[in-house]
Amino acid sequence: MENAGLRLHMPGHAGLLGRVGADFQSWSELDFTELPGLDDLHEPQGIISQAQRLLARACGAQESLILVNGSTSGIHALLMSGAEQEKVVIPRNSHRAFFGGLVLAGSIPVWAPVEVEPELGIALGVQPETIAALLAAHEQVDVVWLTSPSYFGTCCDVSAICYLLQERSTLLMVDEAHGAHFPFHPDYPNPALQDGAAAVVNGLHKTWPVLTQCACLNLGRTFPGYAGTDNPDSSTLLRTARGVQLLSAYHLLTTTSPSYPLMASIDVARDFMDREGNRCLQQALELSAEYKPKLNQINGIRCWGEELTSLRGVKAVDPLKVLITMDGLGLNGIQMANLLHTEYHIELEIAQPHMVMAMFSLLHSRDAWEHFYRAVAEIAARYPSIGKKLPANYFTPPWHMILPPRQAFMAAKKKVKLEDTRNMVAGEMVAVYPPGIPCLLPGELISDDILDYLVHLRNCKVHIQGPADPRLDYFLVIE
Ligand SMILES: Cc1ncc(COP(=O)(O)O)c(C=O)c1O
Repeated sequence: MENAGLRLHMPGHAGLLGRVGADFQSWSELDFTELPGLDDLHEPQGIISQAQRLLARACGAQESLILVNGSTSGIHALLMSGAEQEKVVIPRNSHRAFFGGLVLAGSIPVWAPVEVEPELGIALGVQPETIAALLAAHEQVDVVWLTSPSYFGTCCDVSAICYLLQERSTLLMVDEAHGAHFPFHPDYPNPALQDGAAAVVNGLHKTWPVLTQCACLNLGRTFPGYAGTDNPDSSTLLRTARGVQLLSAYHLLTTTSPSYPLMASIDVARDFMDREGNRCLQQALELSAEYKPKLNQINGIRCWGEELTSLRGVKAVDPLKVLITMDGLGLNGIQMANLLHTEYHIELEIAQPHMVMAMFSLLHSRDAWEHFYRAVAEIAARYPSIGKKLPANYFTPPWHMILPPRQAFMAAKKKVKLEDTRNMVAGEMVAVYPPGIPCLLPGELISDDILDYLVHLRNCKVHIQGPADPRLDYFLVIE
């Protein structure tokens, strides 16, 4: 960038990435450091502070903190905003980021069971009744977490759960990684902050037009310190112990070299969402309403839509997540995804034996929806049912926590042949990726059912994260 002058500062590419790879020149032109006028994410007083204020306003938050390490760092910071050993309710369909946060914070999880849809084979959400029962059974729960929407786009009844917490000092925090677009159109599910959540984490890179890793942590009126503050200033957060601790955790977890391209991409996308978000979301909503029923009419497949809201634990669904099961076809989800990839150049968000999920963006045009619809219709016509039902779904067995996450993470471990781990205590996490929801965490018992499940995962050769030996021949257990 000519008017950037002679760059004698970090980053080391000095704006000249084009010399090492022509395609990367424009990347380096945006990549700066804390030069005069460019503010400092750790002490925002200028353009970053302004960008955060505009972000908060766009998202309906009292205050927003930019995250350059995905939703993961926001979840970690919020968990670390509490005292050590704080009791937190966490739904069992939560992302593996929670385990990291529990290790860092030393908090004690009370895991909430999640409703499962048998045909889809996926966890949907938590019922308010489940939260009420856990609150009755556990004294002094400080925070209730929800994952809403789920990875699959199903949203819990956040307002009913907020209502349950009203009379208590328990805070509601929501992993809303997949719902950053909700505030921009009233016909999408309600944003959790609007329903009363104290804090939410939005993975902007999941649904906004931003670069990967962009996310934000948004605080609502029910977060300590904000009650009665209509115009929070930068010191509002510092009025309460939890706010002070949250900011310290945020600064501790955030790199001292936050990427300017990432931060700029959030600011540009926020401006786009303010101006065009509602229009794009309206168009996407109409396309979804047109194409989901059309997909549903294809012989042999089922495209899931609003009827999901009649299931337990689901209050609303994101219309841009397109879930398809194919019980009436002669191929499974993995085979369908392979055909879509090789023959139609369509990449899906996830494919499992029983289902596939396509994630449409607010930027996809009618052509994209039509291309997907035609491809699925052609594949379905080529692979009619051969009268064989897909094998029954294999659900994640129940968990038994023996040691809390931090203690388990720090404990001495040994390597054992998987078959010999029965009744031992797991020393590592197992999460099928995507969606990255752990089926086993360090500190949990390897019961008969869990061991069978791990052997099943090994036989299916699914992609897993967590174990040092991803083939699962050996497994780390606590000594
Ligand atoms: C529900 C949910 N929460 C949190 C995360 C972590 O987000 P990130 O990868 O942005 O750190 C993910 C990632 O896929 C997710 O699906």
